[in-house]
Amino acid sequence: MSTDGYLTFALGKGRLAKKTLELFEKIGITCEEMKDKDSRRLIFVNEAQKLRFFLAKGPDVPTYVEYGAADIGVAGKDTIMEENRRVYEVLDFGFGKCRMCVCGPEHAKELLKHHERIRVASKYPNIAKDYFYNQKHQTVDIIKLNGSVELGPLVGLSDVIVDIVETGSTLHENGLAVLEEICPLSARMIVNQVSMQMEKERITGLIMKLKEALFRGDKTI
Ligand code: PRP
Repeated sequence: MSTDGYLTFALGKGRLAKKTLELFEKIGITCEEMKDKDSRRLIFVNEAQKLRFFLAKGPDVPTYVEYGAADIGVAGKDTIMEENRRVYEVLDFGFGKCRMCVCGPEHAKELLKHHERIRVASKYPNIAKDYFYNQKHQTVDIIKLNGSVELGPLVGLSDVIVDIVETGSTLHENGLAVLEEICPLSARMIVNQVSMQMEKERITGLIMKLKEALFRGDKTI
């Protein structure tokens, strides 16, 4: 948590950051410096509004927020669940919508019914573990991958995968299907627990304004 009066935001690099800044603009929070696409800078400041923004790798956003390096973060629900950091999740932005699912070839559906010890590949080992062990009570072997997880069942590494499904086209093009849905996902705002006490007025004011902007149903968000 900063002691210089600045409110610091950690944003996951890429599309989420872009959408978040579009939403912030609707409530008068701007950061012109961030719009320069050629810039390699990582930290941007709005001196007038005493705001600081930095871009981080998505999975690192909850870490910055838990440790107070950022007061506020915006990350996907998938990342928040996987990282399981001590932060407050305060708002669902409603964009970046997708689903966390168990996927695989159709015939693998049977393997999910009889508590068989199967192999599950995922970029999200904690989510996969929680789902299979605590919700399905099925003992499985979890294999951590870093991307292109759909390869798992295609090359015989795993029986199924736990992964994000947005349009479903990656699955479709690779002859795979959604076998079970774990939960819906979207972009969420998270807050450092100490900042929430120390900067209560400023942060709750911000949350209220964002809620209003979202409620107004700005379909462009
Ligand atoms: C994500 C996810 C799926 C794909 C789903 O991967 O892991 O592979 O998008 O999207 P779809 O349902 O619209 O096809 P991403 O593009 O982030 O890359 P990765 O596979 O390297 O993680």
